[in-house]
Amino acid sequence: MIVLGIETSCDETSVALLNERKEILSLLTLSQLEEHKPFGGVVPEIAARSHIEHIGDLISKTLFNAKISIEDVDAFAVTAGPGLIGGVIVGVMTAKALASVAKRPFIAVNHLEGHALTVRLTSNIEFPYLLLLVSGGHCQILEVLGVGKYKRLGTTLDDAVGEAFDKVAKMLGLNYPGGPEIEKLARLGNIYAYDFPKPLLNQKNCDFSFAGLKTAVKRTIDQTDNINKADICASFQRVVAEILCKKVENAIEIFRLNYPHSNSLVIAGGVAANLYIRERLQSVLNQYGFESYVPPVTLCTDNAAMIAWVGIERLKLGLTNELDFEPRSRWPLEEL
Ligand code: KG4
Ligand code: ZN
Repeated sequence: MIVLGIETSCDETSVALLNERKEILSLLTLSQLEEHKPFGGVVPEIAARSHIEHIGDLISKTLFNAKISIEDVDAFAVTAGPGLIGGVIVGVMTAKALASVAKRPFIAVNHLEGHALTVRLTSNIEFPYLLLLVSGGHCQILEVLGVGKYKRLGTTLDDAVGEAFDKVAKMLGLNYPGGPEIEKLARLGNIYAYDFPKPLLNQKNCDFSFAGLKTAVKRTIDQTDNINKADICASFQRVVAEILCKKVENAIEIFRLNYPHSNSLVIAGGVAANLYIRERLQSVLNQYGFESYVPPVTLCTDNAAMIAWVGIERLKLGLTNELDFEPRSRWPLEEL
């Protein structure tokens, strides 16, 4: 069973071929980072145009690399939302065209399900597990109960974590994306130099808010002469880690009641690359006897292998879609 996956929901054009033995036959990803860099964030119109320009070639190259012809592909899976709608439409139209020409099933994949199930591509984890999804667009804690079966325990009320990293980096004049820049500089700073606020920390739920933290960082930067950037980065990153730890603790307590025999937390999304945050989370997990699973960084950030993998999982269960499936900019996992 071979599935071709396409991902175009944000600023990566990515195509992958995967089989049910969990072998990535080919994975090609074009990052639009340089195109968006001057704007300090992703510009939807630029993203959509760039996807159109590159998707055709990328599909040919992916097939060529894997020495596979289009007739050998058993299904075409594509991110059909949530995401920047122009880009999503490019991917969905392409996958529909391929599926109808090759007369093979079309699978509309929820991008978040891609992040949620990647860990089953890279390890032998069983359902159910707890998922902390932390990326540039998302900050959620979910119970992953099965393919298409999710329960959201909490989400961000404003910014996503990665977005907060990117905005703080911008305030400090650091490059986009800000996460890796902040992590690097934070190693040189004092994590207790500033005591930034931790919104919603004392609420015994799994919801997040980062807007207040971001504003506090901005105020500090504006009000301080000779700002020590490393201290700001280190303190900001510590506070983010403390917020994530507390909310994961709350989530574990809820999850344990529902599923006393499961003890796995998966950390996914671009922010999962942050080693400081991972270490802090690990100490919480140790307290509860939980194990952490983090897919390799290349599969944590947006890529088509995760979409192809959802394609495999869904195809095995006979879960395919009609060609009139409409792309969605908003698509909560619970609505699957
Ligand atoms: O998952 P991803 O590639 O794209 C989205 O779906 O959003 O995540 C990108 C986000 C960016 O906001 C980036 O700043 C953040 O992940 N990020 C990090 C690190 N590496 C990437 N944040 C904190 N620390 C990092 N090392
Ligand atoms: Zn993503």
